[in-house]
Amino acid sequence: MSAALNTKICEMFGVKYPVIQTAMGWVSTPELTAATANAGGMGFLAAATIKPEEVGKEIQRVRALTDKPFGVNFLMEAPGADIIVDSILEHGVRAASYSRSPNPEFIKRFKDAGVLCVPTVGAPRHAEKAVQLGADIIVCQGGEGGGHTGTIASTILLPAVLDMVDVPVVAAGGFKDGRGLVAALAYGASGIAMGTRFLLTKESPVPPATAERYLKANVKNNAEQIKVTTQVDGMPQRCVVNELVHELENASTVGLLWQSFKSAMEYRKLSGAGMFEILNSALQMRKSNGLTLSQTLMGANALAMVKAAMIDGDPIHGVLPSGVVAGLIDDLPSVDELIQSIMREAEERLAALSV
Ligand SMILES: Cc1cc2nc3c(=O)[nH]c(=O)nc-3n(C[C@H](O)[C@H](O)[C@H](O)COP(=O)(O)O)c2cc1C
Repeated sequence: MSAALNTKICEMFGVKYPVIQTAMGWVSTPELTAATANAGGMGFLAAATIKPEEVGKEIQRVRALTDKPFGVNFLMEAPGADIIVDSILEHGVRAASYSRSPNPEFIKRFKDAGVLCVPTVGAPRHAEKAVQLGADIIVCQGGEGGGHTGTIASTILLPAVLDMVDVPVVAAGGFKDGRGLVAALAYGASGIAMGTRFLLTKESPVPPATAERYLKANVKNNAEQIKVTTQVDGMPQRCVVNELVHELENASTVGLLWQSFKSAMEYRKLSGAGMFEILNSALQMRKSNGLTLSQTLMGANALAMVKAAMIDGDPIHGVLPSGVVAGLIDDLPSVDELIQSIMREAEERLAALSV
C-alpha cells in the first residue's frame, strides 16, 4: 500500500485503512460496524437508537463479531447518556464520537481512560471549540452530508478546519470512492468518513424497499431529490424527498404539533425514556438550537420517524436521511468489496498523479 494511504488516523485507531464508517441511527448496527472493522476500516456503532442500558450488550455483540478496534457514537445531551459513557469505558471501546452539545465531564472521563474523542463538526468555529474541549481527531462534515448537516460545502469546510486545528482531520460529506479519498488527502485530511455509502451495502440492515428508494435517487436526472429540510425536527436535515417530507413541508403548525406528539409517543416506546426526560432533553435542544415548540418536540423524536424507513421498511411514511452522494450510487457491494475498491481506486489515482 502507498505510504500516502497509511495516515495518522490508521495508527491512532489501530486500523489498516483511513476509512471511517460513521454512525447512522438504526443503520450502524453491530453487524455493519464489525463488517467495517473486519474489512480494515474504522466502524462506529450508532447508540442514539439503542436503549442506554442495552448499549453494553450491543458493544459485546460487535466484540463477538470482530477482534478489531471500533467506536461508539451517541448524543451527549440525550437521557441516559451517562449510562452509555459507563458502557464505553467498561468495555474498553477504542473511540467515542459525538456532535451537538459536547459534555466536558464525559470527554474528561474518556480522555482519562485513553478513549479517543472523535467529534463531528459542520462549521469551523465548532472545530476550534471541539479541540479546546479535548478532541483527538475531528470529522468535518460538509453540507452535502446525510442526516443533520451544515451549510458549508466539504471543499470549503475542509481547508478552513485544516487551517484552524492541529489534530488530524477526517473529511465527511459527499464521499464514496477512491477519488474522494485521494482528493481529501490532497487537501491535508487524514482520511474520509462516510455514512450514505455504507448504508447502501450488503451488511447494512436497511430493508430492500427502503434501499431501493435511495438507489433510485439520481442526481443525473434530478438534483432536487435529496434536499435539506427543517420540518423533520427543526434542525437542517438532509434526506431523500419522499411523501412524508412533502407532507411535513406543507403542514400547518397544528399539524406539526400533532406529528410531534405522535412521534413523542413512539420515542417513549423505543427509548424507554419517560415523558419528563423527553421534554427535558427537548428543552435542552431548544436552548442550544433556537427552535419553535413543535420543532423542539419533534427534535427529541425524529429518530422514531427514521425507524419507520430503516426498520419497518416503509420509505413512504418514514424519513430517509441521505447525503447528496446517494444520487451517484447505484450498487450494493459488501463492505469488504467497497473498502477494497476504494483503496484500489485510490492507488490508481495516486499513480496517475505521479506520472
Ligand atoms: C441514515 C443516516 C442516519 C444518521 N444518523 C446519525 C446519527 O445517529 N448520529 C450522527 O452523529 N450522525 C448521523 N448521521 C450522519 C452520518 O454519521 C455522517 O456524518 C454523514 O452521513 C456523512 O455524509 P455522507 O452521507 O455524505 O457520507 C446519519 C446519516 C444518515 C445518512
